[in-house]
Amino acid sequence: MLSIEACGVAVLGIGRAGMVHARNFVESVPMAKLVAVYDVEKERVEAAAGELGVKGYTDLEKVLGDPTIDAVVVAAPTFAHRDLVVAAAKEKKAILCEKPLTLTPEEAEDMRRAVEENGVVFVMGFMRRYDASFMRAKELLENGEIGDPLIIRSVGKGPSLPPRWAWDVKKSNGVLGEVNSHDFDTVYWLMGSEYSWVYARGKNMRCGDLREEFPDFYDHAVVMFELENGSMGTVEGACPSEYGYDARVEIQGTKGVIFIGDIAEHGVTVCSKGKGAARPLVQSWRTLFREAYIREDRHLIECLTGGAKPRTTVEDGVRALKVVRAANRSLSTGEAVYL
Ligand SMILES: NC(=O)c1ccc[n+]([C@@H]2O[C@H](COP(=O)([O-])OP(=O)(O)OC[C@H]3O[C@@H](n4cnc5c(N)ncnc54)[C@H](O)[C@@H]3O)[C@@H](O)[C@H]2O)c1
Repeated sequence: MLSIEACGVAVLGIGRAGMVHARNFVESVPMAKLVAVYDVEKERVEAAAGELGVKGYTDLEKVLGDPTIDAVVVAAPTFAHRDLVVAAAKEKKAILCEKPLTLTPEEAEDMRRAVEENGVVFVMGFMRRYDASFMRAKELLENGEIGDPLIIRSVGKGPSLPPRWAWDVKKSNGVLGEVNSHDFDTVYWLMGSEYSWVYARGKNMRCGDLREEFPDFYDHAVVMFELENGSMGTVEGACPSEYGYDARVEIQGTKGVIFIGDIAEHGVTVCSKGKGAARPLVQSWRTLFREAYIREDRHLIECLTGGAKPRTTVEDGVRALKVVRAANRSLSTGEAVYL
């Protein structure tokens, strides 16, 4: 365990998600200090390092060799996660890896081995598990408020297209990997059971202009599944949804139902003549899960300095990855896939 002052953090991959974590470590994680950012794009490094007032690296060996860095956040595109996690583990850095864990089970195994052999802290970036509403729902389920959970419906939709690299299903596992990994993880966590089988349908319904260059690309998907405890459910994914960022869950149990999430940005409703009642919709995961990201980043430091056990693990990443790949297989074969 490290002393609290000693906790230096670097963010590897300083795009959309990387900047969320980097700003958190500057503003909202008092036991840690953002020391550096690293990216393969020099301009991004210069811009981020300038804004945040930290060191900027474009050389992986140099950033991981920096003795002032104790922990890294891996926020590069999914296809780069394995190499970054393995290299960071070898340098004995604690790691928070953005979801999804990676692209293939073989890569996941390399990551698991590197983390285990080097004995480093590893936190899987499933930030929904650090969200106050999700945590409250989990507590209510555990207290038996709705009896035994029977059916779950989980919706995960983003308003706009993801970055270009994610349009190639081989580099991202598609919307089911990029967006719905979260749903697959929280379904397991909330329902307390492994997946038995999945059946998926998915299509490119909005982005005809991407069809030629990315024939596998799909922007809408529905996955039906059964869990080993006999409960059932669906995950709905879409990117772009156009209307906003939508992450809602409904769990029906033997004694009641739990609803998680809201599509409105806040509780204020404006009513005016001719316009009806209006509530602005949530537009980004950055807003909806702002506090959850901070809690997740703080958790990395608690694990490193206070000996806390990671709440989200490599195994959680592996499970979600297996479900994503099974659903993608079902989507292309038209058949249910048993896990
Ligand atoms: N938790 C969430 O809800 C959430 C939200 C958004 C993104 N993510 C995840 O975060 C990761 C990054 O997504 P993003 O939307 O920020 O992407 P992005 O394209 O906005 O940013 C990725 C950054 O990584 C850099 N990069 C590319 N290859 C690299 C490499 N080999 N090493 C280091 N940096 C490299 C790029 O130059 C870019 O700056 C993805 O795995 C994505 O799934 C998670």
